[in-house]
Amino acid sequence: MGILSYDRKAELIAFDETKTGVKGLVDAGITEVPRIFLLPSPENLNSDQELSLPTIDLKGIHEDPIRRKQAMEEVKDALGSWGFFQMVNHGIPVDMLEEMKKGVLAFFEQDSEVRKQWYTRDRSANRVVYNSNFDLYSAPVANWRDSVMCTVYPNPPQPEELPSPCRDIFLEYSQQVMKLGCSILELMSESLGLPPNHFFDMGCAEEIQVTGHYYPPCPQPELTIGTTEHSDAGFITILQQDLVGGLKIFYQNQWTDVRPIPGALVVNAGDLLQLVTNDKFVSARHKVMANKVGPRISVASFFLANLKPEALKVFEPIKELLSEDEPAKYRSTTAKGFLDYFYSKGLDKTPALLHFKN
Ligand code: OGA
Ligand code: NI
Repeated sequence: MGILSYDRKAELIAFDETKTGVKGLVDAGITEVPRIFLLPSPENLNSDQELSLPTIDLKGIHEDPIRRKQAMEEVKDALGSWGFFQMVNHGIPVDMLEEMKKGVLAFFEQDSEVRKQWYTRDRSANRVVYNSNFDLYSAPVANWRDSVMCTVYPNPPQPEELPSPCRDIFLEYSQQVMKLGCSILELMSESLGLPPNHFFDMGCAEEIQVTGHYYPPCPQPELTIGTTEHSDAGFITILQQDLVGGLKIFYQNQWTDVRPIPGALVVNAGDLLQLVTNDKFVSARHKVMANKVGPRISVASFFLANLKPEALKVFEPIKELLSEDEPAKYRSTTAKGFLDYFYSKGLDKTPALLHFKN
């Protein structure tokens, strides 16, 4: 039977109903990747030349105006070309980063009967959303990944609403990440010649979602993928990855590794940031390879605008960045309008931004 002739929907449902995700398959001892996860063709890896993603040292940016100016220029260059950078001396203690990864690991490794109770696809009714593949039913290929997500701003969860294995650290980490994100947004605003509060006041940090990803070891990693190539939907993402590796970004026509650096955090621009900056900052495509080694843990904190249906604020290219020679490249949208489109499409290799191009 050819790959197209099976009842994919039925197999997706059966997988979803286990409520134990990809980890459940691995725990059950599978040795072959089930067909819902198979790539139509292997990923082309041509990583012939090592381009190196910039690492920005944030030490002293709050005390030393010269360091601040340097860091600002580096942020501007990195987000304008790569759409990504790594940062060190960002102010979040290494212990806290470690605790957060441990918390995510502990969530996935708790008794599967208890973990199952958190499994849902309903983002509106649940504080904590644990599932495998947020786009399971819309994307062409299921990914070798499970995730647990919580919206931590503007209304932080009560401790008892969080799973006990990661309760305290989730709250502490989100506070730190919020603070750090706001200083990055400041640097970004200033680097474009805007007032320091510009991005914050626009609403770029109105809603923050923290997502812990769990990439189980995979028996046949070349046949599937950890995360399909995509760009992030929001304004910025602050990502913590462990030392397993596998994150790649598309830059200058080739895929480059985001080499894990102990204690560092990765920052990347999302689609809404590219839209409001009229391409001054780019939302680069990235993906995560599946790996024989695992699990790999990562924690992505997404900075978004208010996504409540009643939030009607419109996002469009920032007037100060436009001129006669540089007209607006995108139509305006509400944050929810953009996200609804992004989620309904799923990760399928076509950029969501195309839909909003003028
Ligand atoms: C994401 C993402 C990368 C990773 O969550 O959008 O790209 O390393 N994650 O898990
Ligand atoms: Ni991403």
